Amino acid sequence: MTKLWGGRFTRDTDANVEEFTSSISFDQRMYRQDILGSMAHARMLGRCGILTAEETEQIIQGLTSILADIEAGNFTFEIALEDIHMNVEKRLTERIGPVGGKLHTARSRNDQVALDTHMYMKSAIQSIATLIHGLERSLLEVAEANLDVILPGYTHLQRAQPVLFSHHLLAYFHMLARDFERLQGVWNRTDIMPLGAGALAGTTFPIDRRMVAGELKFSRIYANSMDAVSDRDYILEFLAFASILMVHLSRLSEEMILWSSTEFAFIELDDAHCTGSSIMPQKKNPDVCELVRGKTGRVVGHLMAMLTILKGLPMTYNKDLQEDKEGAFDTIDTLKFSLSVYADMLKGMKVNSQRMRQVLDDDFSNATDMADYLVRKGLPFREAHAVVGRAVRLAIETQRSLTELPLSELQALCPLFGDDILAALRIETCIEARNSEGGTASAQVRQSLTDCHSIMQLQQTTIDMYTKSNI
Ligand code: ARG
Repeated sequence: MTKLWGGRFTRDTDANVEEFTSSISFDQRMYRQDILGSMAHARMLGRCGILTAEETEQIIQGLTSILADIEAGNFTFEIALEDIHMNVEKRLTERIGPVGGKLHTARSRNDQVALDTHMYMKSAIQSIATLIHGLERSLLEVAEANLDVILPGYTHLQRAQPVLFSHHLLAYFHMLARDFERLQGVWNRTDIMPLGAGALAGTTFPIDRRMVAGELKFSRIYANSMDAVSDRDYILEFLAFASILMVHLSRLSEEMILWSSTEFAFIELDDAHCTGSSIMPQKKNPDVCELVRGKTGRVVGHLMAMLTILKGLPMTYNKDLQEDKEGAFDTIDTLKFSLSVYADMLKGMKVNSQRMRQVLDDDFSNATDMADYLVRKGLPFREAHAVVGRAVRLAIETQRSLTELPLSELQALCPLFGDDILAALRIETCIEARNSEGGTASAQVRQSLTDCHSIMQLQQTTIDMYTKSNI
């Protein structure tokens, strides 16, 4: 097939090379952005007197019918036409004749592909922001429904101090809220319009880049034509944001997997979100959590790939840049799936509050509270720590908990112990006593929930802005 760029060539492209260099198998998902971008470009060329009104109209009609055909599934993408840009342009000329060839005036595929990708990423950011928001809502719902449930808090995966389950969940809310903020930063650097840069240096035609930006709902245009065609920072940043978000989901996954084991038995996932074993009839596996944890590796891999692709690239467009898309697309798909499946899974899980509370009855999660008790009686904290350390050793040796040590034995360790020690060691007391700002006392968690709802409202305003700034 004759190439759109075939003029200076005397031989056909090798079939292997044609397939190797083609991107149509993956960039066809940007067909809508490509066509809407071309329409805006054509309208601008018309307005600036570079195309006649009639030519503009013919091109817009041709593009409209191609868009309809693709959406109806009546379009065959061809590898020989390399990419989405030339597949659409070639079909346009077949459909409306030589005037179709005027569309590419004052444009290059270098600024065209940059435009398409920017538009595609803006729309992906809108969807992903909405899904993060949805997962945050699930976390808030589960936290509110289990407000006073207590579970052991861990450091080093050893029991440390009791916390409210709602407090634990809200930690994840705040991680996701930071992800949302990072995504806002990505948006700011994606919402820049590259078209008009031409191949690299700008164009000899009197174009109006700001008109194109306005039509396509971009808030800014690239200030430098060379930067416009070679910048992939917004994709890098997106992949970095995505990697951090996936790491958050992976950490949550790890906890869900532990919690749903028989050893912990803190939660039970809904049957709809688990799978069985082909050999062991008793198995109910937390596959979704495991897959999200596993897919984190692949998203981090896409970030590493993109960093490596860009390292050492000279200005401006190099074919290496075509490698930006598959990783970004796969990351978008992975994020969308992971976020939506998680939002449902959290809402469907059963929280075994009795079990969480019960494991705290015979452990030492209240040891810090015993030390704090002695500090309130006047003992320096370091000495209190040593006294309680001895109490813990005594309890372990005689297979008792701290609350099972009689007052006489405690007083032998330190005369400051009084009969109010039992009340101070109650798990509920331990929770309520941690009333420092951001602590786990129920008053703090209630306040935190109110704050989270305010964060949600602000996020909604941002999502609404994204909706208005996408076409
Ligand atoms: N398919 C190419 C890409 O995705 C489009 C730009 C090609 N430009 C060029 N001069 N070969 O990057």
